[in-house]
Amino acid sequence: MKMTKKKVAIVGCGLVGSTTAFSLVTQGACDEVMMVDLNPERAIGEMRDLKDAIEYLGRNVKITSGTYADCGDIDIVVITAGAPPKKGQSRLDTLELSAKICKSIVGPIMESGFDGIFIVVSNPVDMMAHYVQKLSGLPKNQVIGTGTAIDSARLKDFIAQLVKVDPRSVYAYSMGEHGDSQMVPWSCVTIAGKPFFDVIADNKELVGDVDLEELVAKTAREGWEIYNRKGTTYYGIATACAGIIKAILNDENRIIPVSTLLTGEYGEKDVYAGVPVILNRSGASDVLEIHMTPRELARFKESCAVIREYTARITD
Ligand code: LAC
Repeated sequence: MKMTKKKVAIVGCGLVGSTTAFSLVTQGACDEVMMVDLNPERAIGEMRDLKDAIEYLGRNVKITSGTYADCGDIDIVVITAGAPPKKGQSRLDTLELSAKICKSIVGPIMESGFDGIFIVVSNPVDMMAHYVQKLSGLPKNQVIGTGTAIDSARLKDFIAQLVKVDPRSVYAYSMGEHGDSQMVPWSCVTIAGKPFFDVIADNKELVGDVDLEELVAKTAREGWEIYNRKGTTYYGIATACAGIIKAILNDENRIIPVSTLLTGEYGEKDVYAGVPVILNRSGASDVLEIHMTPRELARFKESCAVIREYTARITD
């Protein structure tokens, strides 16, 4: 796999896909963005609209529209196409239809000679990322799910509000399923290096009693809080996705919690789950194994069991 120009294809020009493209273009994060959609006219429309933004931005990013067959020299293909949940459905309810859609995309992209990195955003994302890895036959480092990157951002914001600091000074991960079973290893949460439990103990008047379980539930619920008000989510996830793309294209070795195939880390195997991952030009280069308490590890394993159960339901 070789990267010269930084080329990203966005497959699925709905709100998540087009906002991811917009985020990449406004940040000048790559050299080319190619828009791809089942409806080619939609891709052309997005491409033309995005091109109109260039004049007022910091740099020129080439914007094109194309097909799966044009993905041969693309560095990163972002899959956002899927079956968004209808009212009352969970992310898991969309499994079958999302899997069908992913299957129809991955085959033709691989036929193009693609040997880059897939970033899967489509829900249920852990299962879809695993499925894309199987379908593509690419090494695990080349298939990444956005996983709990967005949940971790939400969690950091909630903690930041409690202790009144910038969320970027909070170190915290939501791990496991991007869904209801996700968990937080609280023993590893720090405020810029100071253990969260010490911060709570030292600032009783400021933070009061902290309900950790409620914070986890609130984090897992946040997507739905947004969904129930606006019918979808896209700014958060699209920007998280752009952050993952930048870490890869710029060879940053940045650690972001994403969904990756576990091969023994945390005592788990053959499951895609949200864990802190070192991201660089090879994609998901390595998993950071943080030391959880036995109770936390048990929660993480329960979440992996949920993912594994649903992944097994995908039949070809
Ligand atoms: C969310 C979508 C990406 O949580 O599942 O915003």
